[in-house]
Order: sequence, then C-alpha cells, then structure tokens
Amino acid sequence: MAQELNPWDARYGQEGFYYGTEPNDFLVEQAGLIAPGGRVLCLAEGEGRNAVYLASKGFRVLAVDGSAVGLEKARDLARSRGVGIETRVSDLSEFVFEKEAFDAVVSIWCHLPPPLRAVVHSRSVEALRKGGVMLLEAYRPKQLEYKTGGPPVAELMMTWEGLEKDFHALDSRVLEEKDRIIHEGKGHEGMSAVVRYAGVKK
Ligand SMILES: C[S@@+](CC[C@H](N)C(=O)[O-])C[C@H]1O[C@@H](n2cnc3c(N)ncnc32)[C@H](O)[C@@H]1O
Repeated sequence: MAQELNPWDARYGQEGFYYGTEPNDFLVEQAGLIAPGGRVLCLAEGEGRNAVYLASKGFRVLAVDGSAVGLEKARDLARSRGVGIETRVSDLSEFVFEKEAFDAVVSIWCHLPPPLRAVVHSRSVEALRKGGVMLLEAYRPKQLEYKTGGPPVAELMMTWEGLEKDFHALDSRVLEEKDRIIHEGKGHEGMSAVVRYAGVKK
C-alpha cells in the first residue's frame, strides 16, 4: 500500500527555507530567560531556524517534528552554521516527553488540534525542570482576516484564555495578544494576529 505523504514534507521539499533561516522574533526577545547552556526542547521545529539559533547561543537543543524532510534541512542548516542539534522525527501524539529534563520548551507556530494541543502543553510543563521556561508564539483566530500565514481554521489557533488555562501551573511572565508585522520566509509575511506566552516553572 502506498504510504501517505506528510504535507509538510512536500512543503519543505521545495527549494529554500519556507519560514526563512532567521529565528522567530519573540524567541530572540525571550531567550535570555533560559539558563545559560541549558537543554531546550523545540516542538514542531520544521526546518530548524529556531533550534539553530539557540544552538548558536550555547544551548543544547533537541528538535522534534513530524517532517523528516524538515529536520534533514534543520541538520543541514546547523552544519552550515557550525553548530550541533539533536533531531527526532516524531508525531507529537507519539513523542515521549522526558520529565523534568529541559530548561526550556519552545513552541513556535505549533498549531495542533485542540485535544492534542492540551496533551502537548501538559507534557511540556512536565518536561520542564524547576526554573525552566515555556516559550510560545501562535496565531489567534483573528489571523483568518489577515491571511498572512498560519493554518486555515480557527480551531487550530490559540487564545490568551486557552494559554492561561494550559499553563496555569507556571509563573507567567508574558501573556499577550498582539497584532504585529512578521517577515518569516514566504510562509509568514505581513500583519499578523498572534498570542505569546512566556512562563517559568515554580
Ligand atoms: C508552521 S510550521 C513551524 C515550524 C517552526 N516551528 C518554525 O517556526 O519555523 C509547523 C510545524 O509543525 C509540524 N507539525 C504539525 N503537526 C505536527 C504533529 N502532530 N507532530 C509533529 N509535528 C507537527 C509541521 O511538520 C511543521 O514543521
């Protein structure tokens, strides 16, 4: 039987980096919260721009994504920048989150169906060590009006209220909804409606 093609593999199989090679702005702003040299888990890391940025700052990075093609490009990007990252091809519904093992969990544009999102957020909190940081940026439903990137359905997007609930066990440092201009490759371009979260495990 023919194997079903992961749609992200098809996207990442194109020439170039779909979301560019520069890191996400919110991650750059907040990376100082992470313990120097700490271990970081990057969820839904795609072609690796955020993982490679963190590795270049001295963090030890494990990048997980369902796309083998994306993570192969992530390793190439790391090699070209002279840094090392660990990668794991896995659907997040099957990924085993090591408990209290990470100094940060980074979730940038990780838009999942709500039941899986709840599980992934809860396992992310468990995966953090005391003092570990959860960093997240996602589109919120208003993004459907801007049409400048992100999934085509509101259900996959996030809200302030949802993140407050999912991360209630953490000490919130940033929880904000914002409309901002994004330039991230050809995938994300222009005015965008986002929600951002940073919180620390008590
Ligand atoms: C919009 S891209 C973001 C990539 C990366 N975080 C970035 O900012 O460049 C979303 C990523 O989520 C991954 N993804 C979506 N659903 C997933 C799942 N259930 N398990 C693992 N990865 C998933 C896709 O393969 C894709 O790489």
